[in-house]
Amino acid sequence: TAKLTEDEADNAIPEIISRAAEAEAENKVDYSGAQVWKVSTEKNGVRAVIGLLRRRNLIATWAGNQSYVDVLVKPQAVENVTRVFKRENIDFNIIIDDLQKRINEENPPLDDLEVELQDRRGHRMTWKQYHRIEDIYGFLDYLAKTYPAIISVRSIGKSYEGRDLKVLRISNGQPSNRAVFIDGGIHAREWISPATVTYFINRFAENFQDEDDDIKNIDWYFLPVVNPDGYEYTHTADRLWRKNRKPAIARQCYGTDLNRNFGYRWGGKGSSSNPCSDIFRGSRMFSEPESKAVSEFIKNAAANFTAYLTYHSYGQYILYPWGYDNAVPPDHKSLDDVGKAMATAIQQTGGSQYTVGSSSGVLYPAAGGSDDWAKGQGIKYSFTIELSDTGRYGFILPTSFIEPVAKESLAGLRVLASYVNKY
Ligand code: ARG
Ligand code: ZN
Repeated sequence: TAKLTEDEADNAIPEIISRAAEAEAENKVDYSGAQVWKVSTEKNGVRAVIGLLRRRNLIATWAGNQSYVDVLVKPQAVENVTRVFKRENIDFNIIIDDLQKRINEENPPLDDLEVELQDRRGHRMTWKQYHRIEDIYGFLDYLAKTYPAIISVRSIGKSYEGRDLKVLRISNGQPSNRAVFIDGGIHAREWISPATVTYFINRFAENFQDEDDDIKNIDWYFLPVVNPDGYEYTHTADRLWRKNRKPAIARQCYGTDLNRNFGYRWGGKGSSSNPCSDIFRGSRMFSEPESKAVSEFIKNAAANFTAYLTYHSYGQYILYPWGYDNAVPPDHKSLDDVGKAMATAIQQTGGSQYTVGSSSGVLYPAAGGSDDWAKGQGIKYSFTIELSDTGRYGFILPTSFIEPVAKESLAGLRVLASYVNKY
């Protein structure tokens, strides 16, 4: 039999029922009975089995590296997949035995006291809950209004569905400053990412005069939600949506993976030409309004960008280019040093352990990532940070994690700032 590439095999499935279509039918995708398994991939042939089950739409892959992969097993498939794994002697652990239960418990409403405090503050943002885009944008606008001397907010474009892409800038206005661009929420379901980026914003904004010189002498640009359409969709329709919400030309499926759509070696490994795939790269580089807006903004800004950080989840990794294939840039040693210094700082707060390395080296090759593009633009320190956890909750990280995760991440960011100023 002829061997198909991953991509060709993806395209070969005629009857893919997208989760979007399910969502329309049911109003909200229900994950009752769906499970998440951590599967060891050390043994030969396991990846092939995983690929097969994925193309049959019995499982979806969540995250993984070279020794394991976390997979979501569809409720109707649990029995079958269990049988296949047992027969093939594939090692796995059930991490989540009823995904919908976890989703229901993830983001409870705030208690009365918190709601009262919220009403007094002039914005509704907290780090005790995952918030809708309206609360996030209300918070950014509030800061611009409250601290006009150092903070401004502008929309750098619109999402496919017409939502603003709001960037908040914090600066003391010194012309000699270097600049750092930080984004979050490229992937809709990674809720801890916008929560963490807004935490940084809050800390810097509310405390700017008392910050270290390393922080004050940088022009900070924050785009907490690159993919607002997808983000809202995860709140209203499908908690596990990853891509943006632009329909494919044939409209049979929705969404492009924005982290496969950036124009550096676009179209290569780890990206799909199938619009129904979760890693659909789009019809061409920068075909999507969200990735296009980010790239235009960075290219055209007068700012002297020395670092680009993009926050994702999950896995606890600090990753540097390249992502498109197994190669590293000439200055990889210095990227590795900075990444390790950040990881050390995070851990020294009593925090989590991060793995540092190149994306392709520690994870898998995936072309079209924003980090590769930023590095290709000559931005010295380009990192993808995969926040917590390592798979116990995965994307469905309870709200009690927001503060500790964001806090330890800030320790890492401070180290990055010191390197930016030294460069
Ligand atoms: N989890 C991220 C993704 O799959 C990692 C991206 C790393 N960067 C890269 N250019 N491959 O999108
Ligand atoms: Zn991501």
